[in-house]
Amino acid sequence: MQHFKPELRIPGPTPLPPRVLQRMAEPMINHRGQAFKEKFPEIMKRLGPLFGTENPIYMITGSGTAGMETAVSNLVSPQTPVLCLVGGFFGQRWADLCRAYRADLHVLEFPWGTGADPQKVEDYLSGHPEIEIIFLVHNESSTAVLNNLKEISQARGRHRALLAVDAISSLGGTPVDMDTWGLDVVIGASQKCLMTPPGTVFISISQRARSYLEKSSSSRYYFDLKKYEQFLEKGEAPFTPNVNNVFALECALDLIEAEGLPNVFARHLLLRDMFRAGVKAVGLELLVADRDASPTVTGVKLSNADQFRARIKELYGVEFAGGQGPQAGRTFRVGHMGYATPLDVLTALAVIEMDLEKAGQATKAAETVMIGRKP
Ligand SMILES: Cc1ncc(COP(=O)(O)O)c(C=O)c1O
Repeated sequence: MQHFKPELRIPGPTPLPPRVLQRMAEPMINHRGQAFKEKFPEIMKRLGPLFGTENPIYMITGSGTAGMETAVSNLVSPQTPVLCLVGGFFGQRWADLCRAYRADLHVLEFPWGTGADPQKVEDYLSGHPEIEIIFLVHNESSTAVLNNLKEISQARGRHRALLAVDAISSLGGTPVDMDTWGLDVVIGASQKCLMTPPGTVFISISQRARSYLEKSSSSRYYFDLKKYEQFLEKGEAPFTPNVNNVFALECALDLIEAEGLPNVFARHLLLRDMFRAGVKAVGLELLVADRDASPTVTGVKLSNADQFRARIKELYGVEFAGGQGPQAGRTFRVGHMGYATPLDVLTALAVIEMDLEKAGQATKAAETVMIGRKP
């Protein structure tokens, strides 16, 4: 019924601000020319506060998984002992990648829908001094869980293991303090909180992780980080980059800096709390407890979730994501990251309450949260 103004409420790719879209439409420029070289390193540097790092940030043209594979192919050699913390679909992807690179794979599983327990990580590491690299997803988009990165990093104690983090659906929406928290690899992607289209991924590595680039024996070419390092020094990327995404990012960073990063993070928390309050108000069950709740995506239990999603898409043009893994068909997920405002949360809640014939109840609860936050 309603198709000409779609409302995309999935956990990425996200809607884009009109200014970013306009910037994408500008004429192509030479990726080896002066104009690009002047801009590119500066734009990468401006990602520094989002990563919480002084280390260089490299851009790879590819999707989020390309960033994950870059981390694995540069750090993991055959038989490197690694520990993957798995509590969802993307944690499993870390394990799949490590297996593909023939690591000595250890997996610590957590129930889907709960955060990784730092105490269990500490216990596992104390029994396994050989582990060299831990792989973790910060914001597990498949279950809508935000893992406590700082505590998991601290759980290493004196253990020497590096910590590699998929921050693909958290970077730019919630704090990531790479240097202060002692993270060794952080990966972010364009299509989530960064308000830019899919197609670019960003990776930063610590000095300790840098030493692995010399010794890792896994084959790699497109993902060889040393190439990205050498070319960034000249202001370039080693292979033809997604030029339009670079300029989209420049524009998105203007917006983020104008709002102020603390305000961006506070907005994401507000959207999360409004949405969760609304869902509870209509009697639906949230997938994740408050303690582990993601600020960028929320999962909701519903027995006929896929029919519901098809209905609201047809009636209102609103698109929610389905559940993944064991939750497929029994949950839906709603993205509230990047270019998202309280109005977007109210729209998402409005279709839920209308479908449940509880008009006004969810939006009222969300409004109460919003009023409570006003300065
Ligand atoms: C947390 C997380 N990790 C990894 C990925 C994979 O990214 P991509 O599909 O861009 O390869 C996603 C994508 O949704 C994600 O949300």
